[in-house]
Amino acid sequence: MTLFNPPARHFPYTRMRRNRQAPWVRDMVQENHVSVKDLIWPIFIVDGENERQPIASMPGVERYSIDVAIKEVGIAAELGIPLIALFPITSADKKDNDGSEAVNPDNVACRAIRALKEAYPHIGIMCDVALDPYTSHGHDGVLIDGKIDNDASLEMLVQQALVQAQAGVDIISPSDMMDGRIGEIREVLEENSFTDTMIMSYAAKYASAFYGPFRDAVQSAGFLKGDKKTYQMSPANGDEALHEVALDIAEGADMVMVKPGLPYLDIAYRVKQQFQMPTFAYHISGEYAMLKAAAANGWLNYEAGIMEVMMAFKRAGCDGVLTYAARDIARLLKA
Ligand code: PBG
Repeated sequence: MTLFNPPARHFPYTRMRRNRQAPWVRDMVQENHVSVKDLIWPIFIVDGENERQPIASMPGVERYSIDVAIKEVGIAAELGIPLIALFPITSADKKDNDGSEAVNPDNVACRAIRALKEAYPHIGIMCDVALDPYTSHGHDGVLIDGKIDNDASLEMLVQQALVQAQAGVDIISPSDMMDGRIGEIREVLEENSFTDTMIMSYAAKYASAFYGPFRDAVQSAGFLKGDKKTYQMSPANGDEALHEVALDIAEGADMVMVKPGLPYLDIAYRVKQQFQMPTFAYHISGEYAMLKAAAANGWLNYEAGIMEVMMAFKRAGCDGVLTYAARDIARLLKA
C-alpha cells in the first residue's frame, strides 16, 4: 500500500507552506495531540511526616512523606492527571540481600498505596515491582553466589506484587526484567481473586546510563554493586525488545512500557506497530535532568522542550508517557 502518491504537478502548484501560514490552519492539520490523559506522574515516597527532600540531580522533584504526597497528588488530580506511579525509598537498616522489606504488607509503598487510594479513589495508582529499593546490593533481584538468581528473585517479586494488590494498587508495574515474572505474577493475582489488577510491564527496559539521577533519588546508587547488564537489555539491540514484549503479552501483561524514552523512540514505534497494545514510554530521570540542566543554563526553553518531547512520543505511537514533568505539562496544556 502506498500512503502517498506524488502529485502529478509539483511546485509551484504544490506548496507545503500553504498549510502552515497561520495558527488556525496549522491547528486544523495537526496530526498528533498531547492530552493530560496521556500523563503518568511518578513520585518518590519516604517514611516520616512532613518530609520534602529535594533531589539535586532532578530539579523540581522531591521525595515526599505520605502526608505530603497526599497533598501533592491532590494537585495532580485537580489538574486531571489520571495515574500516579509510586517509587519507595527504604532506609539502609531495612535493606538486605533478598529485599525482604519488599514483601512486608506495611512497607512504605503499601502504606502509600492505601493512603492514596483512600484519598483519591477516582485516580489510578501504580507501583514498581522490583527489589532494588530494598536490597543491600542495589540490584532488582536476589543475589546468590555473585549472580542475580532469576528464579529466587521471582519468588520475592510475586510476593511483592501480591502485597501491593492487597493494598489496593490498580496497576502492578514490574521493572525488574527477570524472565517469567509477568506470568508468575498474573497467576498469583488470579489465584487470589485480584482479577482486575492490571499489569503494565516494563517489557523493554535497557541497561541505561540515563538512570543516574533516579538512583540518587531512591538512594540505591551508593549500594549498587556492578551493573544491571545480566537482566536489563543492551542498548545495541532492537529485535530483542520485540521478543521481550511478545513474551510479556503472552504471559498476561495488559500494557507495555519502553524505557528509557527518547533514545529508544524507534523501539516504542516498533512495539506499537507490531503489537497494537497500549504502549507507554518512560521519559526517565536522566532525560528530565538533561532538559532541566540545559534550561537552567539558558541553553533551551524547558516548556517548549518538554512539549516537543511529549509530541515525539505521541508521534511514535505511544498511548502515554511516564514523566517527572507531568504536572508541568498538565499546567502548560491548561494555559
Ligand atoms: C529499578 C528502576 C529504575 C528506574 C525505575 N525503576 C532504575 C534502574 O533500573 O536502576 C529508573 C527510572 C528513571 O531513571 O527515571 N527497578
